[in-house]
Amino acid sequence: MIHVNDIKKQYEIVKRDPGLKGAFKSLFHRAYETKEAVKGLNFHIAPGEMVGYIGANGAGKSTTIKMLSGILTPSEGEITVNGIIPYENRQKNAMNIGAVFGQRTQLFWDIPVRESYDLLKHIYDIPERKYQETMQMFIEVLQLEPLLGIPVRQLSLGQKMRCELAAAFLHLPPVVYLDEPTIGLDVAVKTRIRQFIKEMNKTHGTTVLLTTHDMQDIEEICSRIIIIDNGLIIYDGDLQSIKDQYGNQRIISFDLDFEQTFALPPSLTDKVQLLPQEEEDTKIRLSFSNDVIKGADVIAAMMNAYPVRDLTITDSKIETIVEEIYKSSQQEESHEKVL
Ligand SMILES: Nc1ncnc2c1ncn2[C@@H]1O[C@H](COP(=O)(O)OP(=O)(O)OP(=O)(O)O)[C@@H](O)[C@H]1O
Ligand SMILES: [Mg+2]
Repeated sequence: MIHVNDIKKQYEIVKRDPGLKGAFKSLFHRAYETKEAVKGLNFHIAPGEMVGYIGANGAGKSTTIKMLSGILTPSEGEITVNGIIPYENRQKNAMNIGAVFGQRTQLFWDIPVRESYDLLKHIYDIPERKYQETMQMFIEVLQLEPLLGIPVRQLSLGQKMRCELAAAFLHLPPVVYLDEPTIGLDVAVKTRIRQFIKEMNKTHGTTVLLTTHDMQDIEEICSRIIIIDNGLIIYDGDLQSIKDQYGNQRIISFDLDFEQTFALPPSLTDKVQLLPQEEEDTKIRLSFSNDVIKGADVIAAMMNAYPVRDLTITDSKIETIVEEIYKSSQQEESHEKVL
């Protein structure tokens, strides 16, 4: 359904000195800087697959999705979606895809939601009966009934997002791109949205590419993940095998009743890694593999050496795994730079 071959994307940014002087100077003399957001991506997605597209802030996820949906043209390489080159045939491509950009709205701000849908019905030329049938299902699963008469600008974030989702799927496109569809939503709305996506995939075989920072989304929806870092793919494969590979990693964070500098107890030094402290966080985080040392032994050694006030154990949640992969890819990168 989706073929991405060696795509790259550079943005041209106007370089500007700070202040008024800089602004004035750039009126006459423009210096450009190139930012390479995507550095060469290859992947293929089969019909009906649900793929998680993940990576740190600025990794190039939204840039990829914009190219897939035809908003941006790649600087190099080629994309086809359902046999169409999106950026060359935007109108035809639009019939094939639905998209939700969590940070933006595609609904019409000032008119009631129902009328936005009505407009989309005409834009996509959806037959009346099909439209009624689809709407019926959406109203039920996404609980839209009370929202239909309200203008979009009066909706809360979670209400708006449910409406957005319905709009993206309304013409039953074979492909849907979801760029952070659950951002800022409460747990109940997130659950509802995940159910809806799964339901659409089951009943209509919709191919879904999902970008999110919420790993629960990924665990519940996707069987395959593509991880991108700094414009390059660092992992493409099924979720389970990455869990198997990194799944023995554990993190325990300790809240210590202790003011001095912390040093690892000698019995742990070569088995456990001390993670950098997060800002404004006084907790000590230790990472280790369950194959090398048992959690109980780590806790015992720490309690022996320090007054432990509290502790939390994080098991091999996908967040931790992804954090590990980012870290190792960054280490490789800095290693390459040194070389
Ligand atoms: N319109 C633009 N002009 C110039 N640079 C851009 C533009 N859009 C994105 N970038 C840069 O390209 C890189 C990738 O951005 P992108 O939005 O694709 O990241 P992302 O993976 O979606 O991140 P996030 O998780 O924060 O949404 C970033 O370094 C960003 O600063
Ligand atoms: Mg983004």
